Amino acid sequence: MSDIIQFLQQRNSAPKLTEPGPSAGQLEEIFRAGLRAPDHGRLRPWRFISIAGDRRIAFGELLEHCLVARSPNADITTRDKARNAPLRAPLVVVVVVNVTEHPKVPAMEQRLSGACAAQGILLATEASGFAAIWRTGANAFDRAVMDGLGLKASEEIIGFLYIGSRQGPGKPIPELNTSDFVSSW
Ligand SMILES: Cc1cc2nc3c(=O)[nH]c(=O)nc-3n(C[C@H](O)[C@H](O)[C@H](O)COP(=O)(O)O)c2cc1C
Repeated sequence: MSDIIQFLQQRNSAPKLTEPGPSAGQLEEIFRAGLRAPDHGRLRPWRFISIAGDRRIAFGELLEHCLVARSPNADITTRDKARNAPLRAPLVVVVVVNVTEHPKVPAMEQRLSGACAAQGILLATEASGFAAIWRTGANAFDRAVMDGLGLKASEEIIGFLYIGSRQGPGKPIPELNTSDFVSSW
C-alpha cells in the first residue's frame, strides 16, 4: 500500500493542540492544498481567514460578545469558555463559502466544495507534521460572528479549523469495515 493511501486512512483530528503552529511558508503550502478542492463551475466559492497570535484574543472577545447577545444570561464560566476558545490552538482558520446564485451549481454544491477545501487543509496540515480539528458550534451559524469577521451577507462559515501541534497521544482510529458502508448496485 502506498504511503499516501496509508496516510489518508489514518487521518486523525486532534482536540488538544499546542505550539508550534505552521510557519508562514508551511501555511502557504497548506492553503494551496485547500485550493485544490473540487469546484463545480470553478466558482472558487471559498476563502480562508487566518487568526493567529494576539488576534485570537480579539476573536475570543468577539465570540464572548456574540454569546452574550445570543444568551444574555450566560454565566461567567460559559463566557470564559467562549472567550478562551480561540486560544486552544496556535492558529484558527475560518473556512468561508460565498454562496451565490448559479444556474448549474446549487448552493449545496458550493458548500460541499467549501467542505472539500476544509478537508484539503486538514490533510495538508497533518502531512506537514501538524495536527488539526474542524469545529463549528453556534458561533459558525451566528450572523454577528460572521459580521465581526467581515463576511459579506452572501458568505457563510463552513468551519473553524484549529491548527497546531498535537498535545498528548493521538486518539485511537475507529475500526470501520468498508462492508458496512459499501455496496454494489
Ligand atoms: C462540519 C463539522 C463540524 C464539526 N464540529 C465539531 C465541533 O464543533 N466540535 C467538535 O468537537 N467536533 C466537531 N466536529 C468533529 C471533529 O472535527 C472530528 O471529526 C471528530 O472529533 C472525530 O475525529 P476524527 O475526525 O479524527 O475521526 C465537526 C466535524 C465536521 C465535519
